[in-house]
Amino acid sequence: MAEACKLAAGNWKMNGLRADLAEARALAAACSEPGCGVLLCPPATLIAPMAEALAGSRVMVGGQDCHASESGAHTGDIAARMLADAGARHVILGHSERRADHLESSEVVAAKARAAQAAGLVAIVCVGETEAERDAGRTLDVVLGQLAASLPDGSSAANTVIAYEPVWAIGTGRTPSLEQIAEVHDALRTAVPDAAMSLLYGGSVKPGNAAEIFAIGNVDGALVGGASLKAADFAAIVAALDAA
Ligand code: PGA
Repeated sequence: MAEACKLAAGNWKMNGLRADLAEARALAAACSEPGCGVLLCPPATLIAPMAEALAGSRVMVGGQDCHASESGAHTGDIAARMLADAGARHVILGHSERRADHLESSEVVAAKARAAQAAGLVAIVCVGETEAERDAGRTLDVVLGQLAASLPDGSSAANTVIAYEPVWAIGTGRTPSLEQIAEVHDALRTAVPDAAMSLLYGGSVKPGNAAEIFAIGNVDGALVGGASLKAADFAAIVAALDAA
């Protein structure tokens, strides 16, 4: 069975001005040795300049969302081809902040993932339960339900990465126990259409907890928010994944 690729992905969310490209350059300098995949997903305004700044380095660039259509009358939206044209290799889709702020259903996420894959991008599809859903004992139902509905036909390890992000762990400093992460990742491994698909954990990953999370079976990397904004913190997380 093919092994899943390791990936440390950073999500800058709605943070970052051109001056912050210095952090991306510092990250590339700190990760000059070959190892796991390293990805930064800045706001759309920084994709092209970041891709230029990181050309030839180990750090890839991605987007945070795309539209399901190839082009057209969709003011304010960005097509997957445009992300690819700007230098993106990946795009995060179905992040819980978009599911909440923009009412994105799993069906919408699947349509976006189809568009991303057709444009040659790797779709990083996010799934995760709320705290109320976990308290009600519905974590696996919710996560596996989102997974099944968010992946278009034809999703494979080559064009899709899954990120398990418990909503209550994002930006809160709280993380599930290692056993809770393992339970969800084991279930995801069984449920994905291609066993070699990379499974990332996301939610308050920091330099201090990265190594223990990466030691869990079926965890192939992380989707990192806050700690990806500072090169030193994200480089430490990359080093932990390299060592795992
Ligand atoms: P966080 O965000 O690392 O700041 O908790 C994770 C995410 O939303 O991807």
